[in-house]
Amino acid sequence: MIWGLATSHVPAIGAAMDSGKTREAHWKPLFDGYTPAREWMARHTPEVVIVVYNDHANSVDLDLVPTFGVGTAGSYAVADEGWGARPVPPVSGAPELSEHLVGELIDDSFDVATFHRLDVDHGLTVPLSVCWPDPGETWPCAVIPVLVNVIQYPQPTAARCYALGRALGRAVRSFPEDKTVAVLGTGGMSHQLAGARAGLINEEFDRMFLQAIETEPEKLAALSREEYIRAAGTEGIELIMWLVMRGALSENIRRVHDTYHVPASSTAAALALFEDLGAKGTA
Ligand code: DHB
Ligand code: FE
Repeated sequence: MIWGLATSHVPAIGAAMDSGKTREAHWKPLFDGYTPAREWMARHTPEVVIVVYNDHANSVDLDLVPTFGVGTAGSYAVADEGWGARPVPPVSGAPELSEHLVGELIDDSFDVATFHRLDVDHGLTVPLSVCWPDPGETWPCAVIPVLVNVIQYPQPTAARCYALGRALGRAVRSFPEDKTVAVLGTGGMSHQLAGARAGLINEEFDRMFLQAIETEPEKLAALSREEYIRAAGTEGIELIMWLVMRGALSENIRRVHDTYHVPASSTAAALALFEDLGAKGTA
């Protein structure tokens, strides 16, 4: 495991890139905030990236919502979310590593669903664009989707997400082949898209979270789903997926860069990049 990235997955961020608006006044500050992280990631491209995300009822029907899932396909089509698929490359999978992860997680008592076929929505493709803005014909690495239910009550607890991340990290490290892997935790930060509190932003909570995800993940894992929704909004609970990412990293991490920007759509958007130093010695 070479690095972990937390990033918002707001669809409008992808749309701004797809329509060439990233240098316009409204969007420039957000994309300028990404630059140091993008330069660093361009120099540290993994062979496989595990993307922890949620489908937004685009490919996973609300009739059957698994709490956790892992994609095992050889490739994943880009979902049509109602106005045509994003003009980005299809996503290549890493089925052998996926099968290993599923086996290890189930042996570790995480009874994940497996997705042998899956179209990936903005929750996955926007973070790929955040990392690699100009992929050309193909993304620079293979992708393993890890799905978390954050949209239908009862969502998994933050503590369970953190524990899943720990198990995922162990599973990656036990893969017999030598592969460089990175992990993305997507979604957040505070936002609520509908209802009486639509437009909610809680900068104080977001700034606390942005710091604690590095230094005190246990504190974040101890918050209930109701505390997430109260503080960060109905969709702000997506932040529990950052804990899967954090759990998968070793104890020995270094913050490379972060940025926080309000608003993207009606969301507080952020990014935090951590190098995992574990492989270089202590963990
Ligand atoms: C929006 C959608 C999301 O899934 C998200 O995480 C943030 C914002 C939106 O529709 O604006
Ligand atoms: Fe979302």
